[in-house]
Amino acid sequence: MKPRQDWIEDAKRKAALEAVKHVKNGFVIGLGSGSTAAYAIEALGERIKRERLSILGIPTSYQAFLLAVKHGITVTTLEEQSEINLAIDGADQIDAKLNLIKGMGGALAREKIVATASKHNIIIADESKKVRVLGENGHPVPVEVLPFALSIVKHNIEALGGTPVLREAKGKVGPVITDNGNAVIDASFGIIGNVAKLERKLKMIPGVLETGLFVSLAHIAYIGTPAKVEKIKRRT
Ligand code: A5P
Repeated sequence: MKPRQDWIEDAKRKAALEAVKHVKNGFVIGLGSGSTAAYAIEALGERIKRERLSILGIPTSYQAFLLAVKHGITVTTLEEQSEINLAIDGADQIDAKLNLIKGMGGALAREKIVATASKHNIIIADESKKVRVLGENGHPVPVEVLPFALSIVKHNIEALGGTPVLREAKGKVGPVITDNGNAVIDASFGIIGNVAKLERKLKMIPGVLETGLFVSLAHIAYIGTPAKVEKIKRRT
């Protein structure tokens, strides 16, 4: 058996390869963020080169933008292409209905905008991301917040029964600042019984830009395990 880190990287790569098989010539692709999505961007670049595909990519972060350029993917914007054929992205937790927690990489706002603009959303992950219920193991919900509103948003999250923690940067003093110039609060609610309801309540707090709860947005998930890639389709 390979050391855990090795099979996890393998599992992410295999899941990414399955997702990239869905890409067709002429597609506009939403390019997700994070370490698993990075494998998909690399694999997409290879397919474009090998098969001479005409593909446009819409990156969900500065990370995805730089990777797209590195792997020869022509990037565009939602101004130029308001409809996306397919978005491929990672996730931090995935439940059986394919509801997600996203945003541990801080790219949740653009990821959700791109997922909402996309006709089809494929999630890729290793099996450590699969949970029975979102919020398991104390996993927080990332919430992107306008810095001006930080304290008021914290109070409102507490009023909803959550524990808010301002995300601190690594490699820089002070808070994480997103690609949109905002802060991130990681809000722990324990097990989330009603994901859609919590999502609605968080979105109603003034100063909340976006939440990492993705409800009914994913169509398919490819989950890499040490032995195979599991395909899960959302039941509608
Ligand atoms: C970025 O903000 C996130 O939503 C990522 O998609 C998520 O954190 C998954 O990242 P990894 O693939 O690196 O685990």
